[in-house]
Amino acid sequence: RRRTQRERLLAANREAARFYHENLFTPQGAASLAYLRRRGLSDGVIRKFGLGASPDDWSVVSDRLLQKGFTLDELVLAGLTVRKKSDNGKDRYFDMFRSRAMFPIIDAHGNVLAFGGRTLEKKEPKYLNTADTPVFNKRKGVFAANLLRQQRHLDRVILVEGYMDVVSLTQFGVEGVCATLGTALTNEQARLLKRYAPQVYLGYDGDSAGQHAILRGLEILEQENVPARVLDFPDGLDPDEFIRRDGAEGFRNLPAISPAAYRLRRLKDGFDLSSQDGRLAYARGASEIVSAVDPLERDVLLGQLSVETGFPRETLTEQMNLAAKKPVQQRM
Ligand code: CTP
Ligand code: MN
Ligand code: MN
Ligand code: MN
Ligand code: MN
Repeated sequence: RRRTQRERLLAANREAARFYHENLFTPQGAASLAYLRRRGLSDGVIRKFGLGASPDDWSVVSDRLLQKGFTLDELVLAGLTVRKKSDNGKDRYFDMFRSRAMFPIIDAHGNVLAFGGRTLEKKEPKYLNTADTPVFNKRKGVFAANLLRQQRHLDRVILVEGYMDVVSLTQFGVEGVCATLGTALTNEQARLLKRYAPQVYLGYDGDSAGQHAILRGLEILEQENVPARVLDFPDGLDPDEFIRRDGAEGFRNLPAISPAAYRLRRLKDGFDLSSQDGRLAYARGASEIVSAVDPLERDVLLGQLSVETGFPRETLTEQMNLAAKKPVQQRM
């Protein structure tokens, strides 16, 4: 039976992944290997994720795959090779990934769908990712889906931003970690995560981009009815930087806070609570957030709000009941 196009593209990706991985342990891959080790990765975790090195060369990978019988069209479709039309009508081509540490993106069935390649220097882009192809849609999958599948009975999935965050947390023994593929969380990904665990912890970077992405991510998870919590990394650190600094123990001790508690904290940061106006505005906004949670959490949050704003609980409860009565389109 002839293989379908999908099967051939996946086979090309698999060959490429094997080549990158083996290449990591040859002189050609020495710079990438040194880079990954400098970032603290063990050989064990490098093998677990099948990390690799794309050579410092224009076309070794393409040439090797052509030799194995793949066509140039297939390699271009798979995103492994870039074709350049030249004036004399003869096509020229070169490898998409060169001189980068390679992260294969593997689905739950073990298919290699795509790659992310990190520059070893300060080149842009920092991560070069396979564009969408006939076998890869970055809005549908997550990085490390293959490992999620193997980890049964997870009580939560931890969703992070970066490949390195996933690899690094895994090395420190954290289970159930995965990442979106260089885009914001999509509804499709939220539904996918539901298959692996009953709730999702958002573990985005502690910088302002990450903090903004958390609010948006919480909305998407709510739309798909996925219970969520937030891991709030201190000092602007990302999960990789944090676990290297504070260890597995520090990571375990990080509070996983509820969406409402997280939204309140973010809201509070925008007001000056030493002024009457600031306390009023915060209490008004907070009432809307608190009106949306269940009575038990509401009780906890109202106590906290009362301390923060100086308003008695009864007043806050009244304000909250007002907020709850407003039609939905006027809220938020
Ligand atoms: N990203 C990307 N293209 C870029 C920059 C970022 O696709 N030019 C994606 C990558 O998936 C990256 C994630 O966004 O892992 C988060 O970006 P950032 O926090 O800047 O990178 P880190 O994952 O922290 O990378 P590193 O630790 O290797 O510097
Ligand atoms: Mn099970
Ligand atoms: Mn970041
Ligand atoms: Mn990082
Ligand atoms: Mn980061």
